[in-house]
Amino acid sequence: MCGIVGFSGKNNASEILINSLKKLEYRGYDSAGIAVFEGGNIRIEKSKGRLADLEAKLSTVGEPNGTCGIGHTRWATHGEPSDVNSHPHSTARIAIVHNGIIENYKVLKEFLIEQGRSFQSETDTEVIVQMLDHYYTGNPISAIVQTLRELTGSFALGILFADFPDTIFAIRRESPLIVGVGENASYIASDVPAILQYTKDYYLLEHNEIAVLSPYGTSIYDMHYKKLDKELKTADFDMEAAEKQGFAHFMLKEIHEQPTAVKTTITPCIENGLPNFEGMDFSKYKKLFIVACGTAYYAGVVGKYVIEKLAKIPVDVDIASEFRYREPLVGADDLVIIISQSGETADSLASLRLAKKLGACTLAIINVKGSSIAREADLLLYTHAGPEIAVASTKAYIVQISVMYLLAFQLALVNDKITENECTEYVKLLQTTPEIIEKMLENKEAVQYVSSSLVNTESLFYIGRGLDYALSLEGSLKLKEISYIHSESYGAGELKHGPISLITRDMPVVAIATQTMLFDKTISNIKEVRARGAKVIIVCKEKTEIDADVADYVLYIPDLQNDLLNPMLTVIPLQLLAYYTSVLKGNDVDQPRNLAKSVTVE
Ligand code: AGP
Repeated sequence: MCGIVGFSGKNNASEILINSLKKLEYRGYDSAGIAVFEGGNIRIEKSKGRLADLEAKLSTVGEPNGTCGIGHTRWATHGEPSDVNSHPHSTARIAIVHNGIIENYKVLKEFLIEQGRSFQSETDTEVIVQMLDHYYTGNPISAIVQTLRELTGSFALGILFADFPDTIFAIRRESPLIVGVGENASYIASDVPAILQYTKDYYLLEHNEIAVLSPYGTSIYDMHYKKLDKELKTADFDMEAAEKQGFAHFMLKEIHEQPTAVKTTITPCIENGLPNFEGMDFSKYKKLFIVACGTAYYAGVVGKYVIEKLAKIPVDVDIASEFRYREPLVGADDLVIIISQSGETADSLASLRLAKKLGACTLAIINVKGSSIAREADLLLYTHAGPEIAVASTKAYIVQISVMYLLAFQLALVNDKITENECTEYVKLLQTTPEIIEKMLENKEAVQYVSSSLVNTESLFYIGRGLDYALSLEGSLKLKEISYIHSESYGAGELKHGPISLITRDMPVVAIATQTMLFDKTISNIKEVRARGAKVIIVCKEKTEIDADVADYVLYIPDLQNDLLNPMLTVIPLQLLAYYTSVLKGNDVDQPRNLAKSVTVE
């Protein structure tokens, strides 16, 4: 997601646009730009990099001198972060900034090229401004309405027409957009934080509504140019709270963003009900290596289980800091998959370079566009979780495992291990998970209650078998990194080989038991720890009968009727358990001690 702003009034537009964009950098920060009316013309200044890089450029070239303009901070979706792909995009007569995704931009681009138009960038946004120009014959509203009728997808737009100086035209469809109202000033913004420093009063644009901000005032119309009488709202929270959209922490906000993140990530990888990775065929590789760090590594562990189970292809999963030094037996027949949210993790980048040196093909699964690993990998699959601000990774993990599933489905299909119908069913089941997660997030209280039992804990175990073991790894990391409670994950069957000696009275054990095939064995392991005084929190499928002598607390997940995809749901209570425990301990949930969001050093 990107951030868009606009200002029309009597003060220095450049300064207001930059200050407003600073409040939206949490929405995206790989490039930025402004367009300001200066001396009757539209002047655009934009650059790759963070807002600070744009400010540095403006201090060199001089900022545009005007009282009306638009601005943008980008989270790249179409086209890598670069000067030419940054917004605003323009023609000789029109400039726009855009937040959202135009789904039919390719078809429209072909049409415009046939009309003799040329393009500078790889973005879908440039298609919009060219469409506006195509329809523009002197009436901005007419050009806008005709263009809107052609676009499919989500967007919020800020538009300047050179023939209408000091006037901003703004439109919303899906992507949020507000119109701020100040003293002799009006604003547009993707989110309230951008305008709070100037005004708390704003109109909320609804879908297909058009706002016109001019020196003579602000009006809002529908698609038939009927003037609308909108309710003026007043923000009742401060700037910092606004950036979290009312959530107490970025981590909780990002947990809630997971349904959208999964949908946005898997949809482009599904065509006609089957996995389609832009034509990339991974079936020719004899062995897969999945290499990553931390949570990304744990997503890889899920990948190993599901790919080997479905596609019957051998998968090694390595912690990057080990892979890069253990002289791995990697060769030209192998595919090395690097998973990384930031795309900047030093050990993962070094592992990528080693794999390429050893002659393997490399596939990067990355969340940040244009990051180092994304640029150096042979093949590239982006996840679309949006910016992940909290150090503890949540939405990045779930989109990583959703890609693991699609990869497993495709490999199983092309290797004739499952039929096309079975593959379609698996894909359909994956596509149901966002809505199910949405419902799970409506009932967070059960987890919040259980977390109160962990607040004074010094040490605890997470245990599970199979995919439940893979989730116990991620659950344990989530808890330890933000609650600072010592937590270890063990395969439930491993306890007897030593760890069970650590069990003391009332020591919590989080037992994950969602895999029907392994349920009885996990229950046996739970009884072993309970017999030694452990306090058991079990995570299992709804309607599972749990005897009182097995668990002290039960956290249920909906039953997908296919255990293979349970990880998509199991991770939700584990994330919330860590989150609420950290909150109850009064820790800095988003910026836990000793940690950084991206470990760019060894
Ligand atoms: C997870 O909550 C941590 N923030 C950390 O383990 C993280 O997953 C790891 O550093 C890998 O980061 P990356 O995905 O950006 O490579």
